[in-house]
Amino acid sequence: MRDTSHLTAAGPLGASAPPLSLAHSKRGSEHERQADERLLVYFSRAPEDALVDHLKLCGWTVSLARTPSDCARLIRPDVPYAGIVDLSRFTARELAALETSLRQPLVGWVALASPDRLDEPDVRRLIRSYCFDYLRLPAAAQTVDYLAGHAFGMVTLTDLDLVAGMASVGDDEMVGTCDAMQQLFRTIRKVANTDAAVFISGESGTGKELTAVAIHERSPRRNQPFVAINCGAIPHHLLQSELFGYERGAFTGANQRKIGRVESANGGTLFLDEIGDLPLESQASLLRFLQEGRIERLGGRESIAVDVRVISATHVDLESAMRDGRFRADLFHRLCVLRIDEPPLRARGKDIEILAHHILHKFKTDSARRIRGFAPSAIEAIHKYNWPGNVRELINRVRRAIVMAEGKLIGADDLDLAQFTEQQTMTLAQAREAAEKRAIESALLRHRHRLNEAATDLGISRVTLYRLMGSHGLRDPAASEEKAGEADDSGEGKTATE
Ligand SMILES: Nc1ncnc2c1ncn2[C@@H]1O[C@H](COP(=O)(O)OP(=O)(O)OP(=O)(O)O)[C@@H](O)[C@H]1O
Ligand SMILES: [Mg+2]
Repeated sequence: MRDTSHLTAAGPLGASAPPLSLAHSKRGSEHERQADERLLVYFSRAPEDALVDHLKLCGWTVSLARTPSDCARLIRPDVPYAGIVDLSRFTARELAALETSLRQPLVGWVALASPDRLDEPDVRRLIRSYCFDYLRLPAAAQTVDYLAGHAFGMVTLTDLDLVAGMASVGDDEMVGTCDAMQQLFRTIRKVANTDAAVFISGESGTGKELTAVAIHERSPRRNQPFVAINCGAIPHHLLQSELFGYERGAFTGANQRKIGRVESANGGTLFLDEIGDLPLESQASLLRFLQEGRIERLGGRESIAVDVRVISATHVDLESAMRDGRFRADLFHRLCVLRIDEPPLRARGKDIEILAHHILHKFKTDSARRIRGFAPSAIEAIHKYNWPGNVRELINRVRRAIVMAEGKLIGADDLDLAQFTEQQTMTLAQAREAAEKRAIESALLRHRHRLNEAATDLGISRVTLYRLMGSHGLRDPAASEEKAGEADDSGEGKTATE
């Protein structure tokens, strides 16, 4: 059973709606009954009756497909099939259109081709890329049956849960089948129907922006602008004019009126990203706008009503920022009427693997060689690793592996995660170092990068922790300078205490 209520309107920023992939990981008896049935799809412009009769006699339930759209209609994405594709019956021009049909993950294809067509590069490529085997025509019906049985047997070994997760996933979709993601999708649908402010909290790279876009695209405002502002990226002295705009002559160089980002979102959704990085001065004017629903452009006297739905996000721990006086509590309560917590990748179980396959599928053309999937070592490492950088890190590692892999399967070493497999050989020093890095990473994650707490957990000083973070490459370069200053100011000695 798949959710079919996907919405796919394109947003004004060019972001296509990310349909929520709600594929269920468990399938029922209907599926099992179908799998026992030995389904076969015979894809040919001119199917041969004698072959069809023979296959039926051999116990196959045969479906005939003459065109790619027949294939799309006939083939269920969650049930295994044997497939026979008669490439000699398609013209050279038609071959390109076959690729989508041949790419179906649960069809084990056997190609039929006349000897002359086997010389064509496109025919050879399709066979090499998508078929278990091929036969030169004319071929004996018994041999076709034998090879179809073999291909069918192989395809029934496929991990069906994985395919179910992949089946409904397009390029820009939000992937998720685990309970935490299903809960997230339900929440997105619920909050989309209201105008209340939404606050999205989550570690870096968990999909906060994707969630904000998903809410907008499912809301009644979907045909109006979605305006994203990265509060951390705009220099402080420009922030006011960026947010609220200015009138001509407001300051030297203001030669004409400029509409601010808040005003340009009128009627739509305003996404305040990295809200935790908003300087205190700007927090006051944002709060005023949220209370009154009106703005004033710099240098202007007119008060302008602006109707926006506000979504904000941060990876910073705002509760502790409020305690430290770096974030206004009254602003937080305005922003956080509804709260969404993005689950970290390491808490998504099988979804990590499904996402890895999704990313591989999306980027595999980055490599000239044909990569078929992940080796068992890679799958093992994917599940053992902690993913501090979440989905963004997974994307980066898989993309790198696609380029680096020398075989047909991506291994743990291509993902740079060899130390997370059992099979690796490692010196004791390497093992110690890897364990130290893991312990530091998880303490930092537990305490959302609050160094004092993480250091206490680890039984070392903050200065030592900071130094070790440097040697393990765990320092955020942007925050390095600031944190280094804090570490020096902390009054702690520079003695290593571990
Ligand atoms: N569930 C998901 N399915 C597919 N792709 C995802 C999913 N979640 C995140 N991504 C992808 O991961 C990347 C990071 O997502 P996004 O930018 O939304 O994260 P973020 O939480 O805003 O990160 P940051 O804190 O670094 O700004 C994007 O390329 C996004 O498309
Ligand atoms: Mg983001």
